[in-house]
Parts: sequence; C-alpha cells; structure tokens
Amino acid sequence: MAQQSVGTEEQFEDLLAFIRENRGFDFNGYKRPSLHRRIEKRMQDAGVGAYGEYLERLKEDDDEFAQLFDTILINVTGFFRDMPSWEFMRKEIVPKIAAAKRSDEQIRIWSAGCATGEEAYSLAMIFADELGDEGFSERVKIYATDVDERALSEGRHGIFASDTVKDVPEAYRERYFESIDGRSIFSSDLRRAVIFGRNDLLVDPPISRIDLISTRNTLMYFNPDAQRRILLNFHFALLPTGYLFLGRSETLLARSSLFVPVDLKRRVFARGVREDMQEQLREMVEGDRAPIVPAPEAERIREASFDAAPIAQLVVDPAGHLAAANMQARTLFGLGQRDLGRPLQDLELSYRPVELRSVIEQAHTAHHTVSVRDIEWIRGGDSRSYDIQVGPLHAADGSLVGMSVTFAETTRYRKLQEANELQKERLETAFEELQSTAEELETTNEELQSTNEELETTNEELQSTNEELETMNEELQSTNEELNTMNDELRLRTEDLHQVNAFLESILGGLHAGVAVTDGELRVQAWNERARDLWGLRAGEVHGKHLMNLDFGLPIDQVMPLLRGVVNNGSQDGEVKLEATNRRGRQIEVRVRVSPMNGPEGDVRGAIVVMEEVDSKQDE
Ligand SMILES: C[S@@+](CC[C@H](N)C(=O)[O-])C[C@H]1O[C@@H](n2cnc3c(N)ncnc32)[C@H](O)[C@@H]1O
Repeated sequence: MAQQSVGTEEQFEDLLAFIRENRGFDFNGYKRPSLHRRIEKRMQDAGVGAYGEYLERLKEDDDEFAQLFDTILINVTGFFRDMPSWEFMRKEIVPKIAAAKRSDEQIRIWSAGCATGEEAYSLAMIFADELGDEGFSERVKIYATDVDERALSEGRHGIFASDTVKDVPEAYRERYFESIDGRSIFSSDLRRAVIFGRNDLLVDPPISRIDLISTRNTLMYFNPDAQRRILLNFHFALLPTGYLFLGRSETLLARSSLFVPVDLKRRVFARGVREDMQEQLREMVEGDRAPIVPAPEAERIREASFDAAPIAQLVVDPAGHLAAANMQARTLFGLGQRDLGRPLQDLELSYRPVELRSVIEQAHTAHHTVSVRDIEWIRGGDSRSYDIQVGPLHAADGSLVGMSVTFAETTRYRKLQEANELQKERLETAFEELQSTAEELETTNEELQSTNEELETTNEELQSTNEELETMNEELQSTNEELNTMNDELRLRTEDLHQVNAFLESILGGLHAGVAVTDGELRVQAWNERARDLWGLRAGEVHGKHLMNLDFGLPIDQVMPLLRGVVNNGSQDGEVKLEATNRRGRQIEVRVRVSPMNGPEGDVRGAIVVMEEVDSKQDE
C-alpha cells in the first residue's frame, strides 16, 4: 500500500542506481523489504512523498545522503547483547582459542559490523579476563570494522552514556570503566588493542589469519546471495581452528558447509572444509583404492554362482570376444549361446548403453577396475540407470584372462535419491525461508528499537521543554501574585487619596475667600467655589493654566512680585490690596494674600493665593 503511494518499483530502482553511481554505495546486497522501509522512513522525515521527488532532493542537497545513509545503516547495538551467548563464548570458546596458541602467539579477532564498538569492547573484556590484562595487551588485536564512519569515530572514543553500560556485568564495569561527569569511559589500556577501521563487507577484502569473527546482527541485513559471498570471505579470513559468532536470530544457510555448528543455540560455528575441497579429498582417497579382484572358487561352483548372480555380468577375453554372459546379462542384452565367442564390436551392447570398448581399454591400461556411474538407458519409453564396472580378471598365476563387465541397475536407488534430493531441497528452502523470516523479524525489531530510541530522545526533549514551560508558568504565577498585592495597595492608596481630596475640597469649598493653589511654575492646581463666584471661571477652565494666562478681573501682574518672591526666592507670606472687576463687571477692592505651599521636607512646591473682597467701610 505504502509503496503504491510513494512510487513504482522501477522508480525505487532508479533511486538505488543514482546512489550507486553518484555516491559509490551499492545497496543491492541488502534485503529489499527493510531497504524500502528505511528509505521511506527517511523520505517521511525529510517531508518528501515520492521516490522521484526524493531523487531530486538527493541531487540538490549534499547533506541529505548522509542522513539517508544514517537511516539505512541501523546502528542498534549494546554491550553483551544476548547475555547467554556471551557467557558461552566466555566459558567455552575463549579458553579453547587461548589453549590452542603458544603463550607468545598473537590472537586476532574481527568484530565485523561493529557499529559504535560495544561488541568489540565486550570481546576485549572477556579476553582480558581469560589472559590477564597484561597478557591481553601483549597478545590480542581486535579489528573493529563497519561501513559507517560516524559510528566508528564514536566507537574510537570509548565514551559511553551511563545508561549504555548498565548491561556490562558489575565486576567488569568496576574494572574496565571510569565514571566521569556522568559518562563511562572504557579502560585506555584495553582500548589500545581495539583497532577501528572502515570495511565494507560487500566490497572490501577480508582481514586474514583470524581466530574469531564476531559479526552479530549484521548478516541478517543482506540478501542470501550477499550473505553467501560474505561467508566465503569469512571462511578465507579464519584460521583452520577459527570460530564464527553470529547474532541470536541468524544462522548459516542450510547448504553451506563452510562452517559447522559448535553450538547452534548460541550461534557459534567452527570453520569447516569447503565442499569443492571435500570433493578433491574424496577423489584422492578413491584414486588410491586397490582394484577389486574376486576371490577364486571351485570351477563348478563359480560357474553356477556366476550364472545366478543378481546383477548382469559379461566376460570379454583378451582378444576382445564375448567369452561369457550370465543369465541377467543374457536377459538384459538378448544374448544367446551363438553370441558367445563373437567379437564384442559386433554386438549392440558394445556401444549401448555406453561405449564399452573404451572403458575396457581404460581398465586394461590402468590394471584396475573402472566405474561409470548413473548411465541412463531408455528402451521402449522406459528409462533405467546403471552403474557399470569394468575390471581385469587374473588367473592364479597372475596372467590376464579377460575383463569382467558388470551392470548394476540403480534405477530404484536413483529415483529414491532424486526424491530424497527433492525433499532435501524443499526442506532447505523451507528452512531458508524460515531463517529469512526470522532475520526479517529481527531487522524489523532493530528498526523499531532505533525508532524507539529516536522517540525517547524526542520525548526527553519535550519533557525538558515542558519543564521549562512549567518553571516559566510558576515564575509568571509568582509575578502575578506580586502584581495583585501591588494592585491591592494601589487601590487602598487611591481610596486614601480620594478621601484626602474630598477632605481638601470640602475645606476649600467651606472658605469664604477665593483660593487658587499653583505649582512651582504657577500653573493652577486647585480653584475653589468662592474663586468661581468672584471671577466667573470654573475649576475645569483654569486647571493647569498659568495664572498670567487667566482671563479674569484681577490684575494678576500686580500680584506677580509676591508670587515670584514666594515660589522663586523662598519669601514668606505677602499681601496686597488691588482694584479688580468681579464677574458681574462691578469694581471691587480685593485683598490678595500669597503664601508658600510647602512639601513634607519644607521645600516650596507652589503658592496659595487667597483672594478676598474687602469691605471698604470696615477698611476705612
Ligand atoms: C545492527 S548493527 C550490529 C552491531 C553489533 N554487531 C551488535 O550486534 O550489537 C549492524 C551494523 O552493520 C553495519 N553494516 C551495514 N552494512 C554494512 C556493510 N556493507 N559492511 C560493513 N558493515 C555494515 C551497520 O553500519 C551497523 O553498524
């Protein structure tokens, strides 16, 4: 389904071809389903919906290939992954490898597909445990290889998160790790024996003279053909006494005789002898076999037994004539008494079912039995097969008396063998399918694990963002509370102020004289009722205006000296009598008293101007 939406298989192949031609990396040896999933995952993360579009992205964006490579090469790993197998390795195999060597001989180990090095360092720990730290440093070399440079460089540092080393047995953890700033650093003495390097298992030549190849959870990413090629290389790389260590879900292809199981469950194999070599050995042994010479019998018994033998047998004399044919042979070739003594080449059996004279010639020259196996003879639509043996017959004095030719029918045996082969093949195919399904399951599992790790990182990031938000929230809440308190205080003060204002207003209102209060710049700040009555100006009209700018009947310029004296020079009260015009246009006499308005520190903040109509009679 997913495949349909992202493009065709052909477009997928174009993508792989582009990567191969432009980046020199050939993903053809990898299992298709996993490859599909990983590439599609990267496309999804990169926000690309189709293979064609992704090809364009790869062309434009140089960094994208690194991201894709990183997604395809799953680096899921761990120390002592699948502990029971490591226990077996430590207890059974490592001592055997050590015991097979002289005490000054090198031990060479290859961790192929080592990812970030946890597997190679696990091997270092169990070998150091067996040989002692000094013996280990002097004798052991561990080649840790992978195709992923980024993973290799991480491995080289030997620095791990504390969470990663939790699977290391405690005794090893204490002995081989140092904890600094929450990180675990692998022992530098042991680390020196581990050599990290890039090796592409599909392309590069193998490392040689190896005692143990550990290639866990790596073969399972390759298709059967690539696995076969890699296994041939591993066979070449191992010493005859070497071992191969695979991952929990991996096993060797059924038809391979390159390796023999030491413990199938723990996935440990010993190097075997190759099939083509086995064949050579078998031929060497058979070539040395002595010729079969029948034991001599009394003539009569011999004749009777010869005639009654269950397999067809002929005898050809040294001159090439048919000397004898037993009953089975007579029936098989339709021979009669008259055929005895005839030259062999005159008889059909000389060339059917096999060119007999050349085989006789061979046996004659070689002085021993020559066999021709599985000769098929089709007669009247019926197919039969025979094993034919031709061997010299010697008299008691050792002289050659003839050549014996036997035809042992193997039809039934051949059919059984064919049926057997078919069954075996079916079984092997079923086994390989099962194996491939198990590997597929494991690769899917590792993919899930890798996605899970990514999700965990995202989750941790989210959690930390969440924590930050929560802190900010708490800070805001506390600021809010402070603001609320300030707000309450402000409200109280405002209420106080209102009260004071009301109080002042009632005082000013209650006075019989007009009162104007100014600030230091002589701008009106307060103006009472009586002032309004006198001059016809409302408080709203005068507020904030300079006294000099007020349009009213008081000749304020005459009051200015007093005002300036109070505001600018700190003079005390002063008084003046003036002629003025009230709001009704009547001429009145007004007494104007100017006093300073002092602040709490005694500083002058303005002036208080009290204006009172003078009762002239009283004045006089
Ligand atoms: C799942 S990890 C296994 C790590 C380790 N062996 C373990 O079992 O914990 C598979 C490793 O195989 C590596 N790999 C994939 N293709 C490879 C190739 N062609 N040659 C060498 N290594 C390869 C990947 O980079 C990855 O690090």
